[in-house]
Amino acid sequence: MLEMAIGVVSLSGLTAFLALLLEWADSYFADYGECHISINGGEKVLTVQGGGKLLGTLMDNGIFVPSACGGRGSCGLCKVKVLEGGGPILPTETPYMEPQEIENKVRLSCQIKVRNDLVIEIPEELFLIKEYQTRVAAIRELTHNIKEITLKLVDPPEITFKPGQFIQLEVPEYAESPEPVYRAYSMCSAASRPTEVKLVITRVEKGIATTYIHDYLKEGDPVTINGPYGEFYLRDTDREILMIATGSGLAPLMSLLHQMADEGIQRKATLFFGVRAKKDLFYRDELEAFRQKLPDFDYVLVLSSPDPEDQWDGETGLVTDAVERRFNDLSEMEAYLCGNPFMIDAAVKLFTSKGIPEERIYYDKFG
Ligand SMILES: Cc1cc2nc3c(=O)[nH]c(=O)nc-3n(C[C@H](O)[C@H](O)[C@H](O)COP(=O)(O)OP(=O)(O)OC[C@H]3O[C@@H](n4cnc5c(N)ncnc54)[C@H](O)[C@@H]3O)c2cc1C
Ligand code: FES
Repeated sequence: MLEMAIGVVSLSGLTAFLALLLEWADSYFADYGECHISINGGEKVLTVQGGGKLLGTLMDNGIFVPSACGGRGSCGLCKVKVLEGGGPILPTETPYMEPQEIENKVRLSCQIKVRNDLVIEIPEELFLIKEYQTRVAAIRELTHNIKEITLKLVDPPEITFKPGQFIQLEVPEYAESPEPVYRAYSMCSAASRPTEVKLVITRVEKGIATTYIHDYLKEGDPVTINGPYGEFYLRDTDREILMIATGSGLAPLMSLLHQMADEGIQRKATLFFGVRAKKDLFYRDELEAFRQKLPDFDYVLVLSSPDPEDQWDGETGLVTDAVERRFNDLSEMEAYLCGNPFMIDAAVKLFTSKGIPEERIYYDKFG
């Protein structure tokens, strides 16, 4: 049995080694020459040097496809249709694809190498996404592991976005990362202040981007972002709104609340904000200010495991349990969720069981 296990481990090690070797040899010795990428029926045709990944090649040519994992094939956001020239779908892509998408030639652009001419289709709005040079105007500690970063737009000097959307931030090469990486961050600021973008960023243990942002980034530093991206924005209806955030998932919901205040939207809305203990709470004054400003807005803070010194007499447990304790019938509501994937999966399950159809539940998973 032991011998068999050793055999399997050695074989998979050897396979991984050979794959790496092939990739290395390919990058050094293969010369794919000039390739053409025809986009949206020839609306734009790029002439590029082959050999790079499609995601990066498009980005080098000013076309920004959404990505949250920096091209590592783990977020599933970088989908484009490859009608010709992409080769067979790879095992690294299939976990992120619905059967319908595979049939429709949808691919992960970060997994496809440009080896020959390609014919692709991208959503028309991606042509509008731009790169922005910014400067860090302020860094504020919100909790022991969350920072608020204010970026002042430099070139172009303004950004237009829908509250709730996210940008990709470029982390340059630094001590912990030999190459630049891109990560997604939701804007928490008001769209009515287009000259700046505020982000709320949680430190992830050994995370490439968050280590840079928490330990290296200083006020005055230049930062390149691109965007805006995403379908997480307030729908124009009169329905009652249910919002749930965990941790930095509060960011895009703050942007929605700014929108409601700026545009005088008076819909009934309740926000449940879940964190572990009192020391993880932030934006309490800002939430209180929204409660004063918005006539039908309320918020509920939920601690999943308060510390003994917290002396907490508010809601405890899972944030979804707190929703269940307060609301019986959700069927007429519209739900906006943001934060960790476990909370979102649990919330979607709960909400659909309480009558909200899935198409009225909007979310961004931060995992
Ligand atoms: C649409 C969207 C919007 C987002 N908005 C925000 C935001 O406003 N604020 C924010 O802080 N983050 C946000 N994220 C998450 C963010 O994009 C990064 O994934 C996160 O900051 C980690 O990046 P990193 O480079 O530091 O970690 P990585 O180097 O990518 O990861 C290091 C390790 O940590 C694990 N890991 C990655 N993310 C997490 C996590 N969140 N919790 C626990 N383990 C993790 C990875 O699996 C890996 O093992 C958003 C993600 C998406 C998809
Ligand atoms: S960029 Fe994340 S899967 Fe392609």
